[in-house]
Amino acid sequence: MGKLQNKVAVITGGASGIGAATARLFAEEGAKVVLVDLNEEKGKAFEAELKALHYEALFVKANITSEEEVANIFKQGIEAFGKVDVVFNNAGIGRVHSSHDLAYSEWRNTVNVDLDGVFLVAREAIREMLKAGGGTIVNTASMYGWVGSPGSAAYNAAKGGVINLTRSLALEYAEHNIRINALCPGFIDTPIIPEESKQALAAVTPMKRLGQAEEMAKAVLFMASDDSSFMTGNTLTVDGGYTAK
Ligand SMILES: NC(=O)c1ccc[n+]([C@@H]2O[C@H](COP(=O)([O-])OP(=O)(O)OC[C@H]3O[C@@H](n4cnc5c(N)ncnc54)[C@H](O)[C@@H]3O)[C@@H](O)[C@H]2O)c1
Repeated sequence: MGKLQNKVAVITGGASGIGAATARLFAEEGAKVVLVDLNEEKGKAFEAELKALHYEALFVKANITSEEEVANIFKQGIEAFGKVDVVFNNAGIGRVHSSHDLAYSEWRNTVNVDLDGVFLVAREAIREMLKAGGGTIVNTASMYGWVGSPGSAAYNAAKGGVINLTRSLALEYAEHNIRINALCPGFIDTPIIPEESKQALAAVTPMKRLGQAEEMAKAVLFMASDDSSFMTGNTLTVDGGYTAK
């Protein structure tokens, strides 16, 4: 029996990287997965790939910064699979740009996706989980929610926000059987990291390599499943030792 047998999981950013690896592991563990992404082409291809493996999967195109589109994710997921038990609130963007000439519109765009979008998905998830009597949410923050770095002030501020959003929502809904935790990845080998940066980022990681999306998925599975049944409002930092320095 899988760790998420008969559960329904919504995964944002589910077409790529950490979200896709987690969707695959969740499906292997018995979950029906709702893949959410802006990238329709990749999302549909991944849905077809999972279905070909006889997993239950549904792709929903949505922008997590739109209240209407976020509501539609849950409407479609519930229409297809009857409920939502788990939400991996993971879609995000990141760009490196010096702060003194960062356009306000770019700051807003980053914070809009990486913090506001996470709130909108969590809010909708909580609404459904209150009706259903419980559930688990895992938000993707970053090790850059804990430590600073030059050139990504908006991203780092948003990710720090996700960590305290996680604690605050967890406390608010702890008595309602809704557990909310966050993943803080280090440098992970996904399309969000430019190819030309990979070697340098591996070199500054104590374990001298990038993490793999599959290594994140295992941590997410822990937080999403009953294996972490007494954990809420907390974070797992999976970073090859970066923040231990
Ligand atoms: N890879 C890393 O080194 C790293 C480190 C720390 C945190 N993270 C975080 O992990 C999460 C997943 O990133 P990843 O590394 O898998 O990158 P990725 O680029 O492979 O995946 C992110 C996915 O999110 C989707 N997305 C972006 N904006 C969206 C929006 N507004 N609405 C819906 N979907 C949207 C993208 O289309 C993409 O498929 C992000 O929140 C990222 O900030 C990544």
